[in-house]
Amino acid sequence: MTTTAEPQSGTRIGVLEGSPAAAEADAVVVGLLAGDGDPVLAPGAEEIDAAFSGELAALLALAGATGKAEEVVKLPARGAVAAPLVIGLGLGKPGEDGEVAADTVRRAAGTLGRVLTGINRIVVAKGVIPAAFAEGVLLGAYRFTAFKGDHGKAPVAEVLVAGADADELAHAAAVAEAVTTTRDLINTPPNALYPETFAARAAALAEAAGLEVEVLDDAALAEGGYGGILGVGQGSSRKPRLVRVTWAGGEAPARKVALVGKGITFDTGGISIKPAAGMDHMTSDMSGAAAVIATTVLAAKLNLPVAVTATVPMAENMPSDTAYRPGDVLTMYGGKTVEVLNTDAEGRLILADAMVRAAEDSPDYLVETSTLTGAQMVALGTRTAGVMGTEDLRDRVAALGRSVGEDAWAMPLPEHLRGELDSRIADLANVTGNRFGGMLAAGLFLREFVADGVPWAHIDIAGPSFNTGGPWGYTPKGGTGTPVRTLLALLEDIAANG
Ligand code: BES
Ligand code: ZN
Ligand code: MN
Repeated sequence: MTTTAEPQSGTRIGVLEGSPAAAEADAVVVGLLAGDGDPVLAPGAEEIDAAFSGELAALLALAGATGKAEEVVKLPARGAVAAPLVIGLGLGKPGEDGEVAADTVRRAAGTLGRVLTGINRIVVAKGVIPAAFAEGVLLGAYRFTAFKGDHGKAPVAEVLVAGADADELAHAAAVAEAVTTTRDLINTPPNALYPETFAARAAALAEAAGLEVEVLDDAALAEGGYGGILGVGQGSSRKPRLVRVTWAGGEAPARKVALVGKGITFDTGGISIKPAAGMDHMTSDMSGAAAVIATTVLAAKLNLPVAVTATVPMAENMPSDTAYRPGDVLTMYGGKTVEVLNTDAEGRLILADAMVRAAEDSPDYLVETSTLTGAQMVALGTRTAGVMGTEDLRDRVAALGRSVGEDAWAMPLPEHLRGELDSRIADLANVTGNRFGGMLAAGLFLREFVADGVPWAHIDIAGPSFNTGGPWGYTPKGGTGTPVRTLLALLEDIAANG
């Protein structure tokens, strides 16, 4: 048993050397496929099956297993293998190509990581995709206990996967760490995580990974003319920040990517105040910021040959006597003016400043992600991100999102809506006069702040970033960490293909 990597879920993952049937563990996991009748063992479990005289699938079926995806069925081993327990993990019906999809494995492993508590070590037979299993189990085992007295039963401490490649597991552990770091930041309540403390945590994460960090405080923002960030932030005693974190991309980076993420540490709506019901959800309005910071740190940890700079505006949107008002005109970074017609459309204002700043580095690509509109959820539901932008990059990001199990769909930017953002007195208004196409109108607003000729994508994650329903697969309640894995897939794709 070698090479264990530890992400901060506390669960260690490693390669199992030797036989899973003989391994000292609290449970041995085998994959189960759904057949037409009884479940079928996934290939790779032969040795364990032999220890049960070839009857393991039948015994698991007696215990209720069908092989349905995400099913977890336990069978006492009674000495047949070294571990006292065998767990059948349902992987569903293989696809038309005869393979189980990676995200099916990830979700099943996530469910296992969620429900297996108070157990020390599990070993996993071959027959699952090891990297997907590792990612899933680590993400499923995530808990956010920083503010809880009773932590409940601990998640599984160690997972050893037979036939895995140590580098692949290390990659999976690094990805899981970035996702869980993002979740931790989102789940940290807004009285603990506000612009100053968020900036400090971002800087600490980045510095620990050897990255360059720049933090502009409110005085520096005023000096620099960041009217959008300052306008939104001026209603709070907790002053705004702009954080820039850079991974230089090693010796010869192939491309330069600018990431931008919305960092509203709490969104009351400001003077255009939100209704009380569900306002607590707005603790997650910095999900995009958390994701781009964690992704940039991840790029460094994986030594990706792509230069990445995350430009992250952070502010708290509060109503007060110092707050910005509907009717105010802000002069944004770069000089454009915006008439504020609704102080609850604050994300686009801080993002506009950040995107103009990000373009000064002449990036090859600009990718921004944010919990931008409730309209995203009306259009696509809570699990599918809306992707807008220049066509090629938009479609590439949406496809990559789907390929890693972070559902995403390309959305249009209808030209006729742009006119609805015209202002009587400024260059632009921050909202249209109605709710129709709200996600798209926000995208069109942002487009005004994208430098000419730069491929750009905007990922609206209002729904997917924060799970207000029950847990499913590797997705817990609360912060999910979407779209870290999409952004990583994009950086890896850019490293490989430009
Ligand atoms: N942070 C919200 C969007 C949001 C809503 C995210 C629900 C997650 C869940 C954003 O700042 C906002 O308030 N948007 C307004 C825009 C409107 C005023 C044009 C909205 O969606 O209502
Ligand atoms: Zn918001
Ligand atoms: Mn808002």
